[in-house]
Amino acid sequence: MELQGQVAIVTGAGRGIGRATALELARLGADVVVAELDKAGAERTAALVKELGRRASVVPTNVTSPTDLKTMAERTRAEFGRIDVLVNNAGIYRAAAPLDVTEAHWDAVMNINAKAVFFASQAVLPTMIAQKRGSIVSLASLAGKVGSRTNLPYNASKAAVISITKSLALAHAADGIRVNCVCPGFVETDMWTVVAREQGALLGVPPEEFTRQRLAQIPLGRMERPEDVANVIGFLASPRAEYMTGQAINVTGGVIMH
Ligand SMILES: NC(=O)c1ccc[n+]([C@@H]2O[C@H](COP(=O)([O-])OP(=O)(O)OC[C@H]3O[C@@H](n4cnc5c(N)ncnc54)[C@H](O)[C@@H]3O)[C@@H](O)[C@H]2O)c1
Repeated sequence: MELQGQVAIVTGAGRGIGRATALELARLGADVVVAELDKAGAERTAALVKELGRRASVVPTNVTSPTDLKTMAERTRAEFGRIDVLVNNAGIYRAAAPLDVTEAHWDAVMNINAKAVFFASQAVLPTMIAQKRGSIVSLASLAGKVGSRTNLPYNASKAAVISITKSLALAHAADGIRVNCVCPGFVETDMWTVVAREQGALLGVPPEEFTRQRLAQIPLGRMERPEDVANVIGFLASPRAEYMTGQAINVTGGVIMH
């Protein structure tokens, strides 16, 4: 119960890695605010958190709106009195060859995956600074550390998350705030269905074959589960990681090692 009495916000927690993270933080003792676009998914996650004996609240949030992000922080403070953990999880994936990337594609991916990570952090930081304590964990990706023929904006957005993590970690270490990110690999969620379909189509292979090819690249021999990521986020959020900040931690089954 390393997060007993603490309050965590998880963006995009209506399914996938976000939901698994909300439940892991609840198991560690935290009350959870589900900041999500999808109402039904958010309410289901909140119900599951409550089944674990923790308080949960749904704050309808579009992370691309800095106003929504301010409201998210204000409502959390009003209802729970503090903000100890922020997990920037909401994200989207789109595939296209570089010459086919439109401005709309670029903006959609960068706004949700990168810009929102910064403005959500900015929204909670004043509270964390006043508390002299806080932990921010964001979802980057192995895509943030390697190149790609088929999803340049996605990779650029995840590299931006790693960079935002390092700058915020430096700027707020003296305030008692740690900022880290995780870099998952091939995680079986609704997003993976989109990755396999869109990237597979560009590479000329059916989605099942695309997934088989990716699986063959994983040294640990199985696809990643949302819980594999959530466990590491729980660790980074907790005092067990009190000497870690500014890090981008791979959780890929060994696909990348740098
Ligand atoms: N699945 C993978 O293989 C993988 C690998 C590396 C990193 N990631 C990253 O992990 C995070 C979660 O991925 P996932 O696979 O669980 O995705 P997912 O698509 O299954 O879930 C994403 C969630 O974010 C929410 N969301 C989307 N746009 C939003 C917005 N504008 N405002 C608020 N909520 C919004 C969705 O409603 C959904 O509940 C993403 O940042 C993703 O880029 C995923």
